[in-house]
Amino acid sequence: MYVELRGINKKFGSFKASDDISFSIDKGKLVGLLGPSGSGKTTILRMIAGLEPPDSGDVIVDGVRVNDAPPGERGVGFVFQNYALFRYMTVFDNIAFGLNVQKRDKKHIKERVQELIELTGLSGMEKRRPHQLSGGQKQRVAFARALAPNPRLLLLDEPFAAIDAKVRKELRAWLKNTISKVGITSVFVTHDQDEAIEVADEIIIINNGRIEQKGSPSEIYKSPTTPFAARFIGQSFAVSNYDALRGFEKDDNFPEAILRPEFITVSKLNALLYPNSTQDGVVENVFFRGNLSELRVDVAGVKISAYRSLEDDEIYVGEKVGALIYQLFLVNDREVKLIRNSLLRDENSVFI
Ligand SMILES: Nc1ncnc2c1ncn2[C@@H]1O[C@H](COP(=O)(O)OP(=O)(O)OP(=O)(O)O)[C@@H](O)[C@H]1O
Ligand SMILES: [Mg+2]
Repeated sequence: MYVELRGINKKFGSFKASDDISFSIDKGKLVGLLGPSGSGKTTILRMIAGLEPPDSGDVIVDGVRVNDAPPGERGVGFVFQNYALFRYMTVFDNIAFGLNVQKRDKKHIKERVQELIELTGLSGMEKRRPHQLSGGQKQRVAFARALAPNPRLLLLDEPFAAIDAKVRKELRAWLKNTISKVGITSVFVTHDQDEAIEVADEIIIINNGRIEQKGSPSEIYKSPTTPFAARFIGQSFAVSNYDALRGFEKDDNFPEAILRPEFITVSKLNALLYPNSTQDGVVENVFFRGNLSELRVDVAGVKISAYRSLEDDEIYVGEKVGALIYQLFLVNDREVKLIRNSLLRDENSVFI
């Protein structure tokens, strides 16, 4: 492993911002730190970079403990959420900044900056200043500036937070590509689960200064291991009277169930696939979501959400429908348990 955090603790006054944080990253991997606002993501990045000292624990890079090394000696590039470009410098000078600090010779600087301008698709913009760039372009300059001195580790703190949704999506695909092209070990902070799932090789879910779960995007999505992860990932909603749902019984160890729209199929009453496991419900709301519609349905007093493809026959508010719930997560304050619909098993269906 290339980067390792061992038992990191950090308090601000009496507030515990990092609580026994340990994880490791293999060389060349892109790890996403995902968690709600205030969960301690930036604090972790700052401790790796040397901008904040941990109270206890070790930061190890390439086999060497770097706790006592100043930021400039850690070989770390940092991309901040708000670009933090130098306003009065051109694109070229912004990217060259770290190389000038290192007093590299002019020829090397010119070649390296040119290489990065090509990598980041900024050709022709060398002489512009930050106010003459779009948000996406500014963030690519920030990225090029962080990479210029050839860091061994790249840290990105919500790099796309200030950018609008469409450009943000393009940039995240670009970032994943570019990072794998450069092959640099990277840690990427976000509170946007779609972004983490799409970009990261591995996701670490942070909550209240602690690690909740670490795993590949698909492990995190399909198999949350803590109640927080089950609630946080996906478009999850919690239900307490889950035993009112057909095919599910009350388990006294689990006061609550977490459902997601993709666990549910809502059908017109004349088109039920598995009638024995399906339950009547009444549509309370229909939201048009562009590529699909989202239905809110009352099923025996339980409010559920489900998606419906726009190609299917339209379903209306007030319509009586069939709701089939394939599975749900049972949660208490310690565990998560995936439960399948017991009647569906009898209907000999195939689970997806
Ligand atoms: N220098 C500081 N002094 C006091 N408290 C701090 C300091 N830096 C961070 N904190 C507190 O530590 C907690 C974690 O902050 P951090 O910035 O790491 O969260 P975050 O997960 O990055 O949140 P966001 O998604 O909003 O950026 C917050 O409650 C914050 O107020
Ligand atoms: Mg932050």
